[in-house]
Order: sequence, then structure tokens, then C-alpha cells
Amino acid sequence: MPPRKRRFRLLVIHGPNLNLLGEREPDVYGRMTLAGLNAEILRHCGSRKVEARIFQSNHEGRLIDKIHSLRRWADGIVINPGALTHYSYSLRDAIAGVSVPAVEVHLSDIHSREEFRKISVVKPVCAKQISGKGVQSYIEGIDFLLETIGSTDRKP
Ligand code: DQA
Repeated sequence: MPPRKRRFRLLVIHGPNLNLLGEREPDVYGRMTLAGLNAEILRHCGSRKVEARIFQSNHEGRLIDKIHSLRRWADGIVINPGALTHYSYSLRDAIAGVSVPAVEVHLSDIHSREEFRKISVVKPVCAKQISGKGVQSYIEGIDFLLETIGSTDRKP
């Protein structure tokens, strides 16, 4: 009998200001708190047999440190970099530098807002960008990773 595959390991990263979800610009981001969003993510991960770790920070360097420290653990990354999306070359380099496939997600539709939000410096180093679907952006990001790399061999 072939050995059973271990669970897919997912790292979810939330960037600056996402800790204020629920009270921050609810007309743009909705009323769901970060705890509520994480509960939805974990519920979905449970139903898809995914082992998830979730991390939020308002500090660019901490996000980069987390990506580095979990680079050998994670099979895939779903990242909402917040405003760092639009200007952080160091976050972009961190994603490019670890060989873990990443999906960029946004709650709001960054393409229908201010001009500066239309630019994503992380997009070229991510496998996909999903924006404007609220929690569903994260869910689709997870499903995309599972569909594209979920069945490939995993590091032990
Ligand atoms: C965001 C969009 C960014 O432009 C913004 O700076 C955020 C949240 C989103 O999820 O819609 O902080 O990433």
C-alpha cells in the first residue's frame, strides 16, 4: 500500500490594518472581524483537510520573517498584504525568494478603487490574484492552491 499523503500545509498571511476588520471602513471591507474571517478560513481548511497557520501583523518585517521561518513547512501561501501590496518590494522579494507558491487575495476590489491600488508589486511573484470577493477571495485562493499543487508530492 502506498504511504498516506500528509495534509496540505497552508500559511495564511494578513498584512497591516487587517486586525481592524469589522470596524475599519465597513462600507469597503464589511462588518466581519478578523476573528470571524479566520474562523471561516479554518472551517474551510477543516472541510478540505488542510492544516493551516494564520498570521497577521502591521509590520512588514514581521510578515517577511514569518514567510522565511515557515518556508520549509508551508506547501502554499495565501496572502493579503494590505497596503503593502502596492509598494513593498521587500515583501515581493520574500515571496519570490521562498519556493512556496502564493496566491494574493484582497477583500475589496482593488481594481475599482483609487488608482494607487490598481498596482500590485507582489502580483508578478504570485500564482494568482483574487480580489473583491470578501471572505470568498481567501476560500478561492485556498482552493486554487489545492487544485494546482495539492496533489503533487509534498516535502516530508
Ligand atoms: C486590501 C486592499 C488594500 O488596498 C488595502 O490597503 C487593504 C486591504 C483588501 O483586502 O481589500 O488594507 O488588501
